[in-house]
Amino acid sequence: MYPVFGGNQLFGTVEISGSKNAALAIMAAALLSDAPVVLDNLPLIADVFDMAAILEDLGARIQFAQNSVLIDPRCLCGTDAFSGRAQKIRASCYLLGALTKFGGGRFAAPGGCNLGGRPIDYHLDALRALGAEITEQGGVIRVDSRKKMAGAKIVLPFPSVGATVNAALAASCSDGTTLLINAACEPHVVDFFNFLSFLGVRVEGAGTPSVTVEGNHGYFIPSAERYAVISDQIEAGTFMIYTALCKGLVTLKKANPTHLESVISALARMGVLIDSVPAKGYYLPGILPTSEITAQCFGRTKAIELTAEPHPGFPTDLQPLMLALMCVSDGVSILTDTVFSGRFSVVTELLKMGAQISVIGNTAVVKGIPALRCAAVDSRDLRAAAALFGAALSAYGTSSVSGTAHIRRGYEHIDKKILLLR
Ligand code: EPZ
Repeated sequence: MYPVFGGNQLFGTVEISGSKNAALAIMAAALLSDAPVVLDNLPLIADVFDMAAILEDLGARIQFAQNSVLIDPRCLCGTDAFSGRAQKIRASCYLLGALTKFGGGRFAAPGGCNLGGRPIDYHLDALRALGAEITEQGGVIRVDSRKKMAGAKIVLPFPSVGATVNAALAASCSDGTTLLINAACEPHVVDFFNFLSFLGVRVEGAGTPSVTVEGNHGYFIPSAERYAVISDQIEAGTFMIYTALCKGLVTLKKANPTHLESVISALARMGVLIDSVPAKGYYLPGILPTSEITAQCFGRTKAIELTAEPHPGFPTDLQPLMLALMCVSDGVSILTDTVFSGRFSVVTELLKMGAQISVIGNTAVVKGIPALRCAAVDSRDLRAAAALFGAALSAYGTSSVSGTAHIRRGYEHIDKKILLLR
């Protein structure tokens, strides 16, 4: 439960942490390595610690040092990943693909935010296309990849982030070339593909809908000892929206403007001034980011129409936060989410703060009001929690936001970072 005293403008500088969704995919990919690897710029958040514990349960050696972790998979001794922890986070499903290097394993259906159904049929179909045998019984998924897997052409029905990661992990452990059609293009998916290349896998087309992955005959020799994950574009977008909600001027260190073009464009349409400083020198995958973004807003934002869709579209992970901003924007906004139809759990709580929202299918229509009022609100998933935290920061007086264990899953010390800006 966060008691939040809202109504202050935000001024100052905040450092953006490493990307949660890049870190989780890359930690799973580290299992493929034939040598220990150190991952830098990791966010110290619950999902990362849960993922590390799942890898440790499988026998990998894990050692944290501040925002870095050493992962040594050479002593992996198990391939059963259906512990309670594995059922807490969505990213545990990446083990389906990673453990095909070791003949497969047994898995439970993954956890993750309740966004209206989180099936993994695309993941399983991709592994079957590569030759893995999959059986599902009593909630346990068994993947058998002892028969050599072979490269294939895989067409994803939707540019699914998770299915793209899992298909690429299994393709890396298969003989021959795999062509992934309709692959996800999110910045954290590109960073994951860059990490596969760091392990010696030949990848072409990362960041485009058509990616080829050349199986590596089971050899994965890292090209260096360390790899730094990208900064978290969703956290950066979160602070940009907080600045628009609370008014003020905030500089986001390590934020990469090239990962946020759709967010910058949407906020600019609402009247938020965004300035960015590109990275010094040539960007190299795996090297700590040096770019930054400054957001400033002192007047009331304007209503807009917006659709959340796969990258390079507006990210669904910022949809709940944008909804909170639309509640206090001038005019009627329309927000559609084409990725998760059930991602409007935040609406009932924003209505308690005086918002005027109606939801029809996967579209929310928002009539802006001058300001939200304080209230006791309850968050039910990670980004809804972040949205309600921002709404409470903008409402003058004291609100309380419960369900904040969600927020700690995806944001490193967000409360401390906000206090530095007050
Ligand atoms: C990843 O989830 C992220 N999680 C989510 O972030 C993010 O919201 C989502 O991608 C979209 O960008 C991690 O990276 C750990 P999808 P994922 O597969 O992989 C349907 C956060 O807040 N689908 O791209 O589960 C699915 O139901 C979290 O950081 C199937 O139908 O998302 C959804 O409608 C929340 N079958 C759509 O595709 C499948 O097999 C997109 O899902 C897989 C997906």
